[in-house]
Amino acid sequence: MPDPRPVRVAVLISGAGSNMAALIDAGQQDGAPFEVVLVLSNKPDAGGLAVAQAKGVATATVDHRAFGTDRQAHEQALDAALTAHDVEVVALAGYMRLLTPWLVGRWSDRMLNIHPSLLPKYPGLDTHARAIAAGDAEAGCSVHLVTEGVDEGPVLGQSAVPVQADDTPASLSQRVLAAEHALYPRTLADFCRQIRSL
Ligand code: GAR
Repeated sequence: MPDPRPVRVAVLISGAGSNMAALIDAGQQDGAPFEVVLVLSNKPDAGGLAVAQAKGVATATVDHRAFGTDRQAHEQALDAALTAHDVEVVALAGYMRLLTPWLVGRWSDRMLNIHPSLLPKYPGLDTHARAIAAGDAEAGCSVHLVTEGVDEGPVLGQSAVPVQADDTPASLSQRVLAAEHALYPRTLADFCRQIRSL
C-alpha cells in the first residue's frame, strides 16, 4: 500500500521567495502529496521568511557568513535543521549558494531546483539577458534534480515562454517567474507522488 502521508518538504531560499510561496500554497491544498514544513534561508533578511511565517510555516536562518569559507560546515548546520524537521525532500527556490558535493550527496535524488531557463541552455546567472542576446524565440524555466554540476541534473519538468520583440531581461523574467509558479508546484507534486509509490 502506498504511504498516504504528504511528503515533508523544506524550501531553501535566499531572497523574495515567490516560488516558495507558490509551493507552500500548493502544499496546503486538500489532498496535496507534499507539505512545506520548513523554510530555510542563508540570509537573515530574505523577504521570503516573513511570507512563510505569515502562512504558518516554520522558518530558520543559517547565516553563511558565520562560517567564513567553510561551506561544508554551513551545509552541516543546514542539514541539522532539515533533520530536526524530519524533512524528506528539499526544494531549492532562489537559493543562491553553490552546494558542495557533501550536501548534494546527502540529498541525492531528494533535492530539486528551479532554474530560469530551458536547460541545458543557460545554466548559471543572467539567463534572460543571454536568451535575449541570442535572439531566442523562447525562454522558460526548468525544474531539475540537483547533482554536483551546477544546473546539470536530470530535468523533471519545463515550461516555455515566448520572447517578445521589445522584451528586456526584467520584463522577460517577470513572465518566466509566473510560469515558474505553475511549474514548480506541479513538478514537485508529481515527484512526491512517485516517491510515495516506490
Ligand atoms: C527565480 O527566478 C528562480 O528561478 C531563480 O531565482 C528566482 C528566485 O525568485 N533561481 C536561480 O537563478 C537559481 N540559479 P523567488 O525568490 O521569487 O522564488
